[in-house]
Amino acid sequence: MAYQKIWIVISLYLSAISTIFHHLKSFFFKTNWDSIFFRIPDTLVSLYFRLCGLSPCTVDIDDQTTVHFWTANHRRFDKPSLVLVHGYGGNSLWQFVCQVGPLSKKFNVFVPDLLFFGKSYTNRSDRSESFQAKCVMEGLKRLGVDRYSVYGISYGGFVAYRMAEMCPETVEKVVIVSSGVVWNDQQKEELLRKNSNALEILVANNPHDLRLLVSRSIYKYDVFKWVPDYVLQKLIEANKENRKEKLELLEHLVAKKADPSLAILSQETLIIWGDQDNVFPLYMAYQLQRHLGPKSKLEIIKDTGHAANFDSPDTINGLIKSFVLGV
Ligand SMILES: *[C@@H]1O[C@H](CO)[C@@H](O)[C@H](O)[C@H]1NC(C)=O
Repeated sequence: MAYQKIWIVISLYLSAISTIFHHLKSFFFKTNWDSIFFRIPDTLVSLYFRLCGLSPCTVDIDDQTTVHFWTANHRRFDKPSLVLVHGYGGNSLWQFVCQVGPLSKKFNVFVPDLLFFGKSYTNRSDRSESFQAKCVMEGLKRLGVDRYSVYGISYGGFVAYRMAEMCPETVEKVVIVSSGVVWNDQQKEELLRKNSNALEILVANNPHDLRLLVSRSIYKYDVFKWVPDYVLQKLIEANKENRKEKLELLEHLVAKKADPSLAILSQETLIIWGDQDNVFPLYMAYQLQRHLGPKSKLEIIKDTGHAANFDSPDTINGLIKSFVLGV
């Protein structure tokens, strides 16, 4: 009797194992391990955002446009709201990984993905910064956020500027980091001449361009020094969605404008720049300050490149907190 039971247990065990193995085998063959491997870091960073009290959410702006946000779970009335607008190079998760933790302690934080980045998308053909700004603001309105300050870095600075310009009642204070919003046509041309393929590099599609992008943006570290090319290639493949549209956004940004005059913002504005910025040179920081006049304040961070959010996150977080909280 005892043996019989043992055999039943053993056969059950064996059939279970073979069933599991059978499924695993097809799993092993079917699965694209590379894509899983390169999604793990994104998953970990998403998890970190959740630990900082943020949740992902998607808002339809109209029948053609969807904007994805990370939003504060618990909106506390004693904290001001702060919107973080990202630039090129990776998605919003990565760009603010050094900032959401400290900033979410003081603010109700909202992090949109701009159109064609992350999970935001539109079927409309408008590629202007104003359209990006409208979509972010409409999304926030639908989320019930009606007053906030905005912080934009690089391309995100152009969008943040438009938001502040369009809605002076909604946007309280403005922080612009490493963003040549005031450049004129002549300066655009000169920058594009000096950095050949500047636009292509911003949406790098080969390891060489990606290394260039990172070395032009980050001053203190050589992030990819030990990373072999084939890994970079996989990273590029994992992030290649909407490349064409991202290029169109850049082409719109550098195109000559019929009316180049830039509004003077009514909000108090903090301008932050790295003294080693190789994308938007430091003179543009002074130019922006002169343009905005006495309502603006300029902070220059030493030994910091274009990606000031990676080179000097603590300094930037401190500056943003004291400026927006007014302490
Ligand atoms: C864009 O159009 C495609 C095809 O018609 C559709 O599947 C997709 O949902 C649309 N995207 C948005 C954001 O509306």
